[in-house]
Amino acid sequence: MKASAIANANIALVKYWGKRDKKLMLPNNGSISMTVDGMSTNTTVEFDPKYDKDAVILNGKELPEGGFDEFVNHLNLIREMAGIKEKAKVATNNNFPTAAGLASSASGFAALSVAAAKAAGLDLDKKELSMLARRGSGSASRSVDGGFVEWLRGENDDGSDSYVVQIAKPDHWDFRMVTAITSTKEKKVKSRAGMAQTVATCPYYKGWLETVSEDLDKVREGIKEKDFTKVGETAELNCLKMHATMMTTKPPIIYWNPTTMRIIHSVLGWRDEGMEAYFTIDAGPQVKILCMEKDVEDIKKRLSGIEGIEKVIVCRPGGEARLVDEHLF
Ligand code: PMV
Repeated sequence: MKASAIANANIALVKYWGKRDKKLMLPNNGSISMTVDGMSTNTTVEFDPKYDKDAVILNGKELPEGGFDEFVNHLNLIREMAGIKEKAKVATNNNFPTAAGLASSASGFAALSVAAAKAAGLDLDKKELSMLARRGSGSASRSVDGGFVEWLRGENDDGSDSYVVQIAKPDHWDFRMVTAITSTKEKKVKSRAGMAQTVATCPYYKGWLETVSEDLDKVREGIKEKDFTKVGETAELNCLKMHATMMTTKPPIIYWNPTTMRIIHSVLGWRDEGMEAYFTIDAGPQVKILCMEKDVEDIKKRLSGIEGIEKVIVCRPGGEARLVDEHLF
């Protein structure tokens, strides 16, 4: 059977960095994100006896054999859950740069999970879908739901309590994210390898873990109370703490480029002038500026004066991953 789904990317306001179980993709800490519209993945999956091997077409190009192990592992997991053996054809399109620190794995595995579960005949609820997406990429669990969500760390060894819950719906408030793309090159260290290296070698990783629950409490409360300052301040500091652990691993992982730094200093300067904007950065060089709707145009104008920015994308809170009727093949 064939099914298609669309899922949005998400931006972590409190980051997930480090696993307690690599196979089940269980995190060392909980995380909170906003699902964003405007950056999404559209995926069609068909399981059929006519296919003698799995095939993946990413942004119109068929991936070479052996070049999509993470997809095959995920399809295997879904085949096992559904008790089917058929191979699959997968077509998946991102409407934003892939693997450059823009959460393509989050929207990608969320869309793949929703489409493939349906195509395999599974009937999963949102909680189960978030646990399934988690197995493909941790942050993908958060893209299953819309608005502002929390991925619970959980305590159980089998991962049964590590799933996503919604904090607020997409239309809760006028929160916006302005992304400045500073490079579309594929990053050298993927988040999976980067976080494993951090857990293994960073002397400050313990300090990261010790302060995350306080950040989670502040951001969760800030969202509910619509307290932008509380959310922005906490999210920015949380991002810097995560990058501090990355930079102090062996060998160091520095995702920022000179343009990233220029934007960071600019945002800090804008704040000194009284504008409420904060930055956050994932495992890549792009800077995401968190702001309220009223400041978006001013921020876009200010960004246009900074050297090295390739593109600016404005996102609002987005909706949950969903099945769609149109197929890609
Ligand atoms: O689940 P992954 O492999 O996409 O890792 C996500 C890591 C960060 O983007 C840096 C943080 C986060 O919580 O999204």
